[in-house]
Amino acid sequence: MKIPSHVGIIMDGNGRWAVSRGKKRSYGHKAGSDNVDRITTHAFNRGVKVLTLYAFSSENWERPKEEVDELMRLLKVYFTKYIKKILKNKIKLFVMGDLTKLSPELQEIIYKDMEQSKNNDEHVLNIAINYGGRQEICYAVNKLLSKNEEITVDNISKELYTAPFGEPDLIIRTGGEKRISNFMLYQGAYSELYFSDVLWPDFNEEEFDKALEDFSTRKRRFGRL
Ligand code: FPP
Repeated sequence: MKIPSHVGIIMDGNGRWAVSRGKKRSYGHKAGSDNVDRITTHAFNRGVKVLTLYAFSSENWERPKEEVDELMRLLKVYFTKYIKKILKNKIKLFVMGDLTKLSPELQEIIYKDMEQSKNNDEHVLNIAINYGGRQEICYAVNKLLSKNEEITVDNISKELYTAPFGEPDLIIRTGGEKRISNFMLYQGAYSELYFSDVLWPDFNEEEFDKALEDFSTRKRRFGRL
């Protein structure tokens, strides 16, 4: 089977998963957060090199404070709890996005985790937090301007957060919606897209394999014949 080197996932459907069980949306985020380890482990076992997960968008701040607080709490728990496993499995942890808006405590944990895992080279787990694809393009262009460099397609690519990890071969969105929601707009230009109706907390190993099987059948032409 043809395995995509870089997979991006829009983990959608936590809220609906919880509400359908008569629970609060936060309950769904907790279940979604538990699923992150399951799918990360499975994807790397299948041979995926880089996994980029959309955990919190630049627009998610507009959600009720209670929900934002819960997501931030879950991220803190994740980065504190899983760092041992990440190091043991030689995974490089990277967090992309504008981290300056996160609490100083969460920033400190994230930077420490990234520092500790920076020399790992088996796999990359790239987590997008306070991330937006449009914002990332502006960030890259501003970096070029500050260095007085020409704004070209290649130069912008080199300044994206994901520059060292390459472009996603496959982007999966769970939860039934068919849109890209400001996720990896520039580097996703030629990504294959896979949409699953399964809500993120239920998106298990079998569902991930269905996405891989589907990817295997795609003929990638990158605009050529
Ligand atoms: C979309 O579901 C999901 C999010 C906005 C957050 C994704 C976060 C996690 C999976 C947990 C934390 C992440 C890590 C890396 C530990 P939604 O709330 O929009 O669901 P809905 O479409 O059903 O309302």
